[in-house]
Amino acid sequence: MSGDGSFPGLFGGQGSHAPEMPPLVRPTAPSTPDPSPGADVPVSQPIPFERTAEPVPDPVMGPTGRPMPDLPEPRRVEEHGPARVIAMCNQKGGVGKTTTTINLGAALAEYGRKVLLVDFDPQGSLSVGLGLNPHEMDASVYNLLMQRDMTLDDVIVPSGVPGMDLLPSNIDLSAAEVQLVHEVAREQTLARVLAPAIENYDVILIDCQPSLGLLTVNALTASDGVIVPLECEYFALRGVALLKNTIDKVQERLNPRLEIDGVLGTMYDGRTLHGREVMQRLVQAWDEKVFHTVIRRTVKFSDSTVAGEPITTYASSSTGADAYRQLAKEVAVRCLDG
Ligand SMILES: Nc1ncnc2c1ncn2[C@@H]1O[C@H](COP(=O)(O)OP(=O)(O)OP(=O)(O)O)[C@@H](O)[C@H]1O
Ligand SMILES: [Mg+2]
Repeated sequence: MSGDGSFPGLFGGQGSHAPEMPPLVRPTAPSTPDPSPGADVPVSQPIPFERTAEPVPDPVMGPTGRPMPDLPEPRRVEEHGPARVIAMCNQKGGVGKTTTTINLGAALAEYGRKVLLVDFDPQGSLSVGLGLNPHEMDASVYNLLMQRDMTLDDVIVPSGVPGMDLLPSNIDLSAAEVQLVHEVAREQTLARVLAPAIENYDVILIDCQPSLGLLTVNALTASDGVIVPLECEYFALRGVALLKNTIDKVQERLNPRLEIDGVLGTMYDGRTLHGREVMQRLVQAWDEKVFHTVIRRTVKFSDSTVAGEPITTYASSSTGADAYRQLAKEVAVRCLDG
């Protein structure tokens, strides 16, 4: 082996034995005159070699196939509010809406933001994922929506993460979907009950159920932005047009300030060609809306759900925790501090 660790001859004999590079020589002139520009340069003459400026290092490519930006730490806030309300929305089930709500919320809280999580899914996964027992709730979002005498303070509970609170839900919420149909301004009900919380928090994250029904329309009507988590699987791309259509309709008819804050690739496996292809398709379809951060597939997420806490505290130095911290930075740059 040669001194630089390479095998001699493997790359054409590098190192101290490497032969000198021959001068770059133009090919022999064609027999007929060449009319192209520069054809009158004498042949077989070395072209002077000019040293160019220092090579610019290639930008670091992120998993989305675009250069990874350098994301600053979110700035520390002195005072809290008004909050940006963000709905985590995709009518497809099991794509990482609840996981993203818990962990993005916890990561933003670590950066000093005051966060309120709203469990707006009758499955109550967000509440269970933060260690609550769905059968032992004094009050839930259902009571807040349906009972005029209920206040936010009657329902909000601490999440176990400093700086992050929770509006819990359980199966009762499924009745609200039916009962709200008969209400006046039924699409604005959640916006109305959340309004007093806006001044007290920096971010309010709403975990939607996997449907585009009235509860989800309420969540979109109450929000400034939407984050769409998408599993990096081929079938995940189906139904996205319908979701976009619903967001556009809510924006047109109910909530003109609503915008898509970002599309988040979840359960990504960069080792498979399939994963990389789906990511490529996502970027083709959504362009700059796709977050540079992607969430890789890891069993740590299921483990932390069983433990009833965010991955940022359950496995604080794991890649999953880091990914959500990076997402928090990206969300801050895109739509909180901008
Ligand atoms: N990046 C990931 N890697 C591996 N497993 C994950 C990841 N993200 C989420 N999961 C797991 O996938 C399952 C579904 O995730 P989650 O509940 O967040 O999806 P959801 O979109 O909220 O589902 P639903 O539509 O039913 O509400 C959970 O068991 C969760 O622990
Ligand atoms: Mg969920």
